[in-house]
Amino acid sequence: MDSKRESNLKEKIIEVVNVSRRIGQGSGYVDVLANVDFYARRGEVVSVIGPSGCGKSTFLDILAGLERPDSGTVTVQGLHTENLLGSVGYMQQKDLLLPWRTVMNNVILGLEMQGISKKIARRQATERMDSFGLSGFEDEYPYALSGGMRQRAAFLRTILTDTSVLLLDEPFSALDALNRSHMQEWLLNLLESYDEKTVVLVTHDVEEALFLSDRIYVMSPRPGRIVVAEKIVWDLPRSRNLLSTQQFTETKSRILSYLLSSETVL
Ligand SMILES: Nc1ncnc2c1ncn2[C@@H]1O[C@H](COP(=O)(O)OP(=O)(O)OP(=O)(O)O)[C@@H](O)[C@H]1O
Ligand SMILES: [Mg+2]
Repeated sequence: MDSKRESNLKEKIIEVVNVSRRIGQGSGYVDVLANVDFYARRGEVVSVIGPSGCGKSTFLDILAGLERPDSGTVTVQGLHTENLLGSVGYMQQKDLLLPWRTVMNNVILGLEMQGISKKIARRQATERMDSFGLSGFEDEYPYALSGGMRQRAAFLRTILTDTSVLLLDEPFSALDALNRSHMQEWLLNLLESYDEKTVVLVTHDVEEALFLSDRIYVMSPRPGRIVVAEKIVWDLPRSRNLLSTQQFTETKSRILSYLLSSETVL
């Protein structure tokens, strides 16, 4: 795709240099991230994969401005750590739908927080409900939704805020394999229609990372360090057919071997 080829020339919209994060104090501290270097260019989808507890969510919290690094620098769209909060769309690991609000009122929460009137927010949400598979469920409460619908609702809330940077923390982890595969294709299509959005996707799933992203960062166990960063260029267009190609299988086993070897890094 031309736009993706051009993305090599685009500016680094996220740049993280030598970031470390230690949580806790005195002897009760935990080193969560160590000397992380990372970037994403405008329009790129970049995945971060790594074992459970290696610091992936903490890393996204830092990109979102919810957490501060202890050292190193973070720049997102020209903003630094202290000014980041609210500047990016962040779908956190838990869907965080409010049980006492209807689907519509959950979905418009981000817009309301941006100071947009309820009426305009509802209009914007209504336009997208169908493509997010939520039409007809606007007045239901979250408990009435399937896991996939809850995740799409949380995702719609994130995307409606119309930020150029989206941080997605294991957006499909609650889903079974079939729904997960549908959602991945759905996300791929969605991102193709949002060419300029930069996405940082955290996942445990190597296939998901390969299927969706332009580059992959592999993190070591805690303290999370980047052990390898790899650009993904496919011979075929992205589709389910890609998954059965030799190139896909080889790339997957290479990334898996990085993940496994990172386990032995002290
Ligand atoms: N507030 C906190 N106090 C103490 N430890 C914390 C705190 N926040 C995170 N940690 C620890 O930091 C480590 C990294 O947590 P984080 O949630 O970033 O990992 P993760 O890679 O997202 O894990 P998972 O894949 O399970 O979601 C974990 O070991 C966690 O226990
Ligand atoms: Mg996490």
